[in-house]
Amino acid sequence: MPFDAVTLPPGEQPTLVDGELVLRPWRAEDADATRPLHDAVMARWFDSPAVVPDRDDHLAWVERTHAEWREGSKATFVLQWRGEAVGSVDVRHRSPGVGALSWAVFAPYRGRGLSSTAVRRLVRWCFTAVDAPEPGLGLRRVEAEVNPLNRSSMNTALRSGLRREGVLRGNTLLGDEVHDTVLLGRLATDPEPGTREGFTAMLDSQLPTKRVIGQGLVRNGAGELLLCELAYKREWDLPGGVVDPGESPATCVVREIREELALDVSVTRLLAVNWLKPWLGWGDAVLFVFEVAPVGDDLTDRATLLEREVRALHWVSPTDAPEHVAPYNARMLASLGAAEAAGDTGTLVLEDGLPRREGA
Ligand SMILES: CC(C)(COP(=O)(O)OP(=O)(O)OC[C@H]1O[C@@H](n2cnc3c(N)ncnc32)[C@H](O)[C@@H]1OP(=O)(O)O)[C@@H](O)C(=O)NCCC(=O)NCCS
Repeated sequence: MPFDAVTLPPGEQPTLVDGELVLRPWRAEDADATRPLHDAVMARWFDSPAVVPDRDDHLAWVERTHAEWREGSKATFVLQWRGEAVGSVDVRHRSPGVGALSWAVFAPYRGRGLSSTAVRRLVRWCFTAVDAPEPGLGLRRVEAEVNPLNRSSMNTALRSGLRREGVLRGNTLLGDEVHDTVLLGRLATDPEPGTREGFTAMLDSQLPTKRVIGQGLVRNGAGELLLCELAYKREWDLPGGVVDPGESPATCVVREIREELALDVSVTRLLAVNWLKPWLGWGDAVLFVFEVAPVGDDLTDRATLLEREVRALHWVSPTDAPEHVAPYNARMLASLGAAEAAGDTGTLVLEDGLPRREGA
């Protein structure tokens, strides 16, 4: 399928230049020059049966790059640096306005930044309007699928301003091994990779994130705790929930209690920060537990429950709580009770409900 059957002007494949690096159409004579430069690294990541391609196959591949350009399905460029053919980059039609990128640099030329320079130049051409003085493809998005074990290739994508967007699990085969691939993408409207905004966006897309939970410790005049009987799990739990992106843990507690119990409350202090280790298929998380300002013993009468989440509310004494809550919550409530009994009014730092042991 053409990149854009309506507007892409027919014509010769252009030559793109960035300093000493030239991206130009492949020629028959490049086939012989580059064939011996193929190595096991390329064979592995492109899943080629042979490390060095057969001469006729390689020539036929060069011919095919010309046919693909003519039919508008793919543009492949040899990378020429200081007069040598050092690698190859390409963009193929994925869907209207979207191109899929691929790249390779031959072993003797790696580690000089040639791949990221080439991909950045290719992407600039992809995003250049079709009616510009030096026309491009006028794409709105480019993307690449990279094996996460291929660190150099991930770096090439990130240095070229592509952002990590997600993992495609079990998406590819290398030989008979099943592998994940990481999908990375860049929009024409994204900031350039060399800018502060571009650098921040690139890093932000790939740094780990962790689930954050906010919960409230609500007590009545008898010192009993408010526990929610939930519609989706067996154990009862403190009111609260998962903190939304851009939301603070304390605001989350106030919001969740408003959404699920239809009550307006305020939080007074942070009682504990509790790291929860991975559990029953859930990834690890950080739980912030806040004391909720006195609410009055009639809370359970005033609350209107969001029934798809909360079945019932219960006032439970601290001694009875462990038989209703999950083990990690029982440990945390015990730690909170012990701190209170000892007159400790600071914020507890807990791991899996227990005070962190020094040196652990
Ligand atoms: C992936 C591949 C293209 C990377 O090629 P490359 O030319 O070495 O990659 P880069 O241009 O990004 O340069 C990488 C290194 O050069 C270094 N470098 C040196 N000078 C540099 C410069 N002026 N600018 C940028 N990087 C420079 C970088 O620090 C970088 O090191 P790092 O990756 O350890 O952080 C190459 O390893 C390859 O062809 N692999 C096999 C094929 C393949 O995997 N293709 C991708 C399939 S999705």
